[in-house]
Amino acid sequence: MGRVLAVVSQKGGVGKTTTSVNLAAAFARRGLKTLIIDVDPQGAVRYGIGLRRGHPTYGFADYLNGARNLREIILPTALPWLRVILAGSVSDASDHSFYQQLIAETSVLHDLLATARERCDIVVVDTPPGLGAIVHRVLESAQHVIVPLQCEPLALQTTPQILRGIQEIVENNRELTLDGILLTMYEAEQPSSQRVADYVREHLPRNMVFDVVVPRTEAALEAFAAGQPVVLRTPADEAAQAYVNLATLLAERFR
Ligand SMILES: Nc1ncnc2c1ncn2[C@@H]1O[C@H](COP(=O)(O)OP(=O)(O)OP(=O)(O)O)[C@@H](O)[C@H]1O
Ligand SMILES: [Mg+2]
Repeated sequence: MGRVLAVVSQKGGVGKTTTSVNLAAAFARRGLKTLIIDVDPQGAVRYGIGLRRGHPTYGFADYLNGARNLREIILPTALPWLRVILAGSVSDASDHSFYQQLIAETSVLHDLLATARERCDIVVVDTPPGLGAIVHRVLESAQHVIVPLQCEPLALQTTPQILRGIQEIVENNRELTLDGILLTMYEAEQPSSQRVADYVREHLPRNMVFDVVVPRTEAALEAFAAGQPVVLRTPADEAAQAYVNLATLLAERFR
């Protein structure tokens, strides 16, 4: 039975999608049968995962509302061991309330994650920012969660909130482990970036923060703009290597 790994954070723009697509690609490169699912209505995985030109854009939302079946929404990627379920048509809609309501009030997401686990080694779930109904639902069906924390001062204000929220969910889902907080977009030359990293390491239990730190790099930014995980586009880049190292660590932990 595979594992569901959710990537969540209170704050937006901290590197959840970047982390999701790169971990998924790195797992697949190791030969693990990997599925990445985008449940964020913004649908950013579609731009970062490296889909073939002319691919369909339907996905989870279209399965949720009954318009598509499971086989139709699982799309191939450039990697043989990596498949993707995009967010689907909800990402083009301005109102996401019906989508959220369907997730909250049906067991479709739970059932999908249960089925995916049976068929894959790892199911990576990219989520919208915050700890709303969608993220709650994901965490109820996940075994692992990681929390990216951008190395900038505001990050510290929002982190206790998400940790408390996850703690509450862990109490209801005994299967769920908070694998760690991942420091992202670290800039060694920036004193504020260093301060945040130091503060986090001082104030949180040692095993709660990954030793691996993802630096802010030009290659990571460019890869996203070019629609590819940086681990595939620029493997020698430091951010790419950080994601590969994290995937190695997690894959060993999950064995
Ligand atoms: N290591 C990095 N180096 C440089 N840029 C990065 C890095 N990680 C992420 N970024 C950039 O930061 C921006 C936000 O990243 P991303 O979309 O992954 O965050 P997110 O948490 O998924 O955002 P949202 O909450 O909106 O879903 C993107 O432009 C991305 O390319
Ligand atoms: Mg995102």
